[in-house]
Amino acid sequence: MSDLIPFAQPNVTPPALPGSVTVQHETEDLLDAAASDLLLHAFNCVRAFGDFHLALSGGSTPLPLYQRLMIDPKYRELPWNRTHLWIVDERRVGFESELSNFRAIDEILVEHSGIPREQVHPIMALQDDADVAYERQIRESMFFREKGQDRLDYVLLGMGTDGHTASLFPHSPALLDSLDVERRQPQVGKLIAINAGPKVTPPDRVTMTYALLNGARFVAVLVTGAGKRATLAKVAAGKDDPALMAELPILGVRPRVGELRWYLDAAACPEG
Ligand code: 6PG
Repeated sequence: MSDLIPFAQPNVTPPALPGSVTVQHETEDLLDAAASDLLLHAFNCVRAFGDFHLALSGGSTPLPLYQRLMIDPKYRELPWNRTHLWIVDERRVGFESELSNFRAIDEILVEHSGIPREQVHPIMALQDDADVAYERQIRESMFFREKGQDRLDYVLLGMGTDGHTASLFPHSPALLDSLDVERRQPQVGKLIAINAGPKVTPPDRVTMTYALLNGARFVAVLVTGAGKRATLAKVAAGKDDPALMAELPILGVRPRVGELRWYLDAAACPEG
């Protein structure tokens, strides 16, 4: 595991976020830290369970990480032949669309990784029952795991400037469905949801819910660039206030027994 690296500039302090925080001054070094941890998790899971269930996000932030995994010889070792690849969320468009998360992941990673196609699980987002079908696929592929170990091993999330993660947008229906509003905490229930309506940035989405994300063994949140700094400051300030989850959905990411780790570059860190 990479440790928190002290900063060259004394005026940049890692924000106090829920979980642990890995900071690297340069984005390139941050990608290295994230890739090394990912590799370690993959090997550990393959050793323990025989396979590795990896869920990846779309958006622009993780694409250089995916490229790094394919290009850097250090990371080519990832045991793709034992990996199942899941998609955290998908836009309800065809795979030919520029907006398709799977399209980007497929082009950068799947085609070059050597992962067996039957272990790649795109979301069939245009199907009416996309949520039900994907949930069924996840449950079926975990069926062989011992009870308690039947969960995603590694989830990579991003964060939007509005505090959304996956396709759980502030005050959107899928978010509210997967929050226990009364107890102000994420609830256990549906693993995959369709998210649509005025609170969802178009197009409509299919997304993993808190129930699935928070069951994961390890959740990495990768945030880079100055554009996310103000949002991270809000997340740090609100981390002990469950009432803010509907406003800043990333705050609902609290693995039940797994680990949450943020990966930040200096540009993304709010001033301490
Ligand atoms: C998506 C993502 C989403 C993403 C954030 C951050 O489909 O867009 O899965 O949750 O991680 O929107 O996006 P950027 O990395 O592009 O800032």
